[in-house]
Amino acid sequence: MAGFYKNNYWRLGFASSLYDLLTPESYAESMRAAVDCLPDFAGMTVLDVGCGSGQALSVFQEKRSALGRYIGTDIQTSGLHRLRTRHSSAPARPWVLPFQSNLNCGLAIKKNSVDAVLAHFSLYTLSDPAVRAQVLRDVKEALKPGGTLALVNPSITYDAKNIIRESLGSDKAQNKAGRFWIKKCLLYPLTLHFGLKFIERQLQEEFWKSYTLEEMIAEAKAAGFEIVRTQTVYANSAYLLVGKTD
Ligand SMILES: C[S@@+](CC[C@H](N)C(=O)[O-])C[C@H]1O[C@@H](n2cnc3c(N)ncnc32)[C@H](O)[C@@H]1O
Repeated sequence: MAGFYKNNYWRLGFASSLYDLLTPESYAESMRAAVDCLPDFAGMTVLDVGCGSGQALSVFQEKRSALGRYIGTDIQTSGLHRLRTRHSSAPARPWVLPFQSNLNCGLAIKKNSVDAVLAHFSLYTLSDPAVRAQVLRDVKEALKPGGTLALVNPSITYDAKNIIRESLGSDKAQNKAGRFWIKKCLLYPLTLHFGLKFIERQLQEEFWKSYTLEEMIAEAKAAGFEIVRTQTVYANSAYLLVGKTD
């Protein structure tokens, strides 16, 4: 049973919509922080690597009316299906291309074709460091000169309970009492036990990768990125790194 859950974690989460429903507020804040680090100009093309259900598309749509193209790639068709639904129900629509690819086999994106890349909590699921290194090199090649990467990965201080605490703090500050209590009493207990604690275990068992800041910088530099910014996000449970190509 544990093996089935582990192997189908993302697929089931996207197909049931539980992934979106149980997303803690702190995760959404981390995504918004990463999107905020990307450039913003009319007609730009963004590649979302390991896009999952395409939550980032909603963030781009909230903040970027001028976004030209959003390319979302993931191994899970259930996530890409959610992305398509999200796109078709959105009011302002950039051109969206969801496509399936397995990062273990390369990125499959044309060289010099995108202005910005978002990799929000995706590369850490690639347990082989050689594959992560190759993907980062592919990302660099896909970017146009002067392009920007916003990379977010869990830190070695990943703490599931802290993420929930911070999320509840943010939810409370939003002053929507009904929503706060639904999250506190109904949704976040499920988020904690079926989501965050599960991820915490995978990180502890090194099935997925948690990073020191130095490790994250080293991986990005080795792929040829100039590091322009780093910060902690997600209740100190992750790092956001912004890199540029020359
Ligand atoms: C934590 S989710 C993040 C999804 C999305 N970026 C977000 O922040 O909501 C990790 C994503 O990486 C994807 N992934 C894992 N291994 C992959 C692979 N080998 N190739 C492509 N995508 C992969 C999963 O399917 C999942 O959608």
